[in-house]
Amino acid sequence: MQAPLVDGFGRVHTDLRLSLTDRCNLRCTYCMPAEGLDWLPKPELLTDDEMVRLVGILAAMGVRTVRLTGGEPLLRPGLPGLVERLAALDVALSLTTNGLGLARQAQALRDAGLRRVNVSLDSLMPERFTALTRRDRLHDVLAGLAAAKAAGLEPVKVNAVLMRGVNDDEASDLLQWALDEGYALRFIEQMPLDPQHGWNRDTMLDADEILARLGERWTLTPVPSRGSAPAEEFYVDGGPATVGVVGSVSRPFCSACDRLRLTADGQVRNCLFAREESDLRAPLRAGACDEELADRLRVAVAGKKKGHGIGEPGFVQPDRPMSAIGG
Ligand code: 5AD
Ligand code: SF4
Repeated sequence: MQAPLVDGFGRVHTDLRLSLTDRCNLRCTYCMPAEGLDWLPKPELLTDDEMVRLVGILAAMGVRTVRLTGGEPLLRPGLPGLVERLAALDVALSLTTNGLGLARQAQALRDAGLRRVNVSLDSLMPERFTALTRRDRLHDVLAGLAAAKAAGLEPVKVNAVLMRGVNDDEASDLLQWALDEGYALRFIEQMPLDPQHGWNRDTMLDADEILARLGERWTLTPVPSRGSAPAEEFYVDGGPATVGVVGSVSRPFCSACDRLRLTADGQVRNCLFAREESDLRAPLRAGACDEELADRLRVAVAGKKKGHGIGEPGFVQPDRPMSAIGG
């Protein structure tokens, strides 16, 4: 066991977000322009072998949970094979996906050792879903969710971002649907991570407002013990069903953050909002030993800032959009 990954504020890092690709097969308006982005060239992407090696080093440094993200991680060729190799490293694996293609892959991923999925879904209204994602694929997402449940990838979580004038009238309908289907719904505050740099505090629905809307239809009582989990969970009408709210902007959880991120092209980021990255790919390809890579990881984590600083004077959005960082 290597020395753990501790930053200057004593936060121990045990959770990795691993982005498998920056590509996506949806074009959510708040995430990408209609034409997509300039995708990373293939030679710049970490190979499966490189990812397995880095995760192995991280596991030896105390990383216990790995969330596979994108872009859309299901677009990575041969994903079940990679999942199987990562699961063998003794880390608990989960996946954040838009759900397209999950119907086809859920069982294979479960068999390969994936434990859980989070599926992003912002609207249950077919036309609105199509406008929001610029693709007519709601039925595929719903089929993917059903397949995840059938494959035993439970609890199946659903992530929704509410935007004023876009889908904010659906908060309660989304929750009713999730309760009916047995999915664990979480609302996420929209963060300034869009490539168009069009984020606006006023279009974001914050945690207070989301809870007020849900409170019109249900009685919500806080579930104790949040730990380092970003979602604040609430029992719905006494439970056992819960709903989560991730108040990344209005109720930041930076002080309990235990995450680090690795982009699909091998850059370590110590925060979604970091302005700097540390390159692991170049040393990796130049033949660095595990110890050298571990040192680079330690230095990257040590330099982590206290908080994201959204709303403070001088806050500057990161250069890379969310889809290239990994959600
Ligand atoms: N703020 C909050 N969540 C976002 N997502 C994408 N962009 C943003 C943003 N700017 C969400 C997606 C998906 C997850 C990967 O991140 O809706 O649920
Ligand atoms: Fe794709 Fe997720 Fe971005 Fe939508 S939010 S375009 S599903 S990466």
